Amino acid sequence: MKIVVLNGSPRKNGNTRIMAEAFAEGAKSKNHEVKILDIAHMNIKGCMACEYCFAHDGVCVQKDDMALVFDELNTADMVVFAAPIYWFDITAQLKTVIDRLYAHGKIGFNFNKTALLLDAGADGGVFTAAIAQYKAMTAFLKWEDKGIITIGGMMGKGDMEKAAKLADVRALGASL
Ligand SMILES: Cc1cc2nc3c(=O)[nH]c(=O)nc-3n(C[C@H](O)[C@H](O)[C@H](O)COP(=O)(O)O)c2cc1C
Repeated sequence: MKIVVLNGSPRKNGNTRIMAEAFAEGAKSKNHEVKILDIAHMNIKGCMACEYCFAHDGVCVQKDDMALVFDELNTADMVVFAAPIYWFDITAQLKTVIDRLYAHGKIGFNFNKTALLLDAGADGGVFTAAIAQYKAMTAFLKWEDKGIITIGGMMGKGDMEKAAKLADVRALGASL
């Protein structure tokens, strides 16, 4: 299947990107096609709630890089949401892309499988809001959750290289 990973971290080659690549490595070992999108480096504005999309077959009135994201999502079977925790939640950049999915609320999505990859500086206790948002969204949209992995203790750039749980991320990709 085709899997799109939405990397919501703005830090180039940071801990979240390392997580995304480990997942991709596992999935590719099972012959899945994986595309990682560094959405924090794309020009994507927030949803304006104009509801133009509802009257125009899911086409958003805003002409920005979200069109490129939809190009990928429209042929995807699975989407992985990946983000570092910023102030006890996912990054604003990933939330912005999630908000823009509203455009397909009426016409629906090609993919129906998802997963969540999160990392944070603290060891634990900071993932609650992000997981709650993800679970509510997947339940509402009837997406099948394939796994949630959280990795804490990631204080510095590159700490992820030494994280034992990175093997779990690779294994999640290989389990598909
Ligand atoms: C603006 C900002 C806010 C953060 N907020 C939190 C937080 O609330 N809790 C936490 O444990 N770590 C927090 N962190 C640490 C990051 O989640 C952590 O270092 C993560 O591994 C960074 O991933 P990256 O290398 O992909 O950017 C924050 C980092 C930044 C830059």
